[in-house]
Amino acid sequence: MKGAFITFEGCEGSGKSTQIRLMADFLRARGAEVTITREPGGTPLAERIRGLLMETCEETIAPLTELFLYEAARAQHVQQIVLPALQRGAIVLCDRFYDSTTVYQGVGRKLDPATVGLLNRLAAGAVRPMHTYVFDLPAAEGLRRAWERGSDDRMMQEAVTFHEAVREGFLALAQEEGDRITIVDASRPIEIIQEELRRHICGLPFMENR
Ligand SMILES: Nc1ncnc2c1ncn2[C@@H]1O[C@H](COP(=O)(O)OP(=O)(O)O)[C@@H](O)[C@H]1O
Ligand SMILES: [Mg+2]
Repeated sequence: MKGAFITFEGCEGSGKSTQIRLMADFLRARGAEVTITREPGGTPLAERIRGLLMETCEETIAPLTELFLYEAARAQHVQQIVLPALQRGAIVLCDRFYDSTTVYQGVGRKLDPATVGLLNRLAAGAVRPMHTYVFDLPAAEGLRRAWERGSDDRMMQEAVTFHEAVREGFLALAQEEGDRITIVDASRPIEIIQEELRRHICGLPFMENR
């Protein structure tokens, strides 16, 4: 695959979407083809699954059901959007990917990590993030930012302790996969974070000839 798959992870309100937009501007100005996408979602069907996952439901969604819905959306997104873009040589900036499932479903919902890992690999197929930025922020601050933005989805209604466990889960994952994952201190001003990201991405091997 000629392209580059870069993922952005972290709690709600940590600044992923903001930084992706700025990063896309930077890369496009250098002449790169950039695809911005997100999970769950990214295709019409996957966005409909996203809707099911985000809206408050009249019944409790069982953790395993939730996992399958995320993976179903992922399989569709990978086949329809991510793979074709990478085959064209695009840089794909993805707002959440399977690390979110590892952490929200594995740590937050306490599903068996081996099960989550297996389904993540099945849904992603040959697609692996080339690099991942984890935006780290106290959960309460992220939730405050997201509320201010006007969001109130099903996951956000979980207790702050759930979101703190998710934060710790991301940090542990970053420790395990230090070569792939960079932790970004998301408490700083937007411009400072973007500067750091631009400097970092320019040092990645795929940027050599771009
Ligand atoms: N570094 C930052 N400092 C303060 N506010 C921020 C920062 N980054 C983003 N925001 C604001 O916080 C809210 C959530 O940011 P967003 O990029 O949507 O986060 P995410 O996509 O991770 O949920 C938005 O209103 C955004 O303008
Ligand atoms: Mg976002």
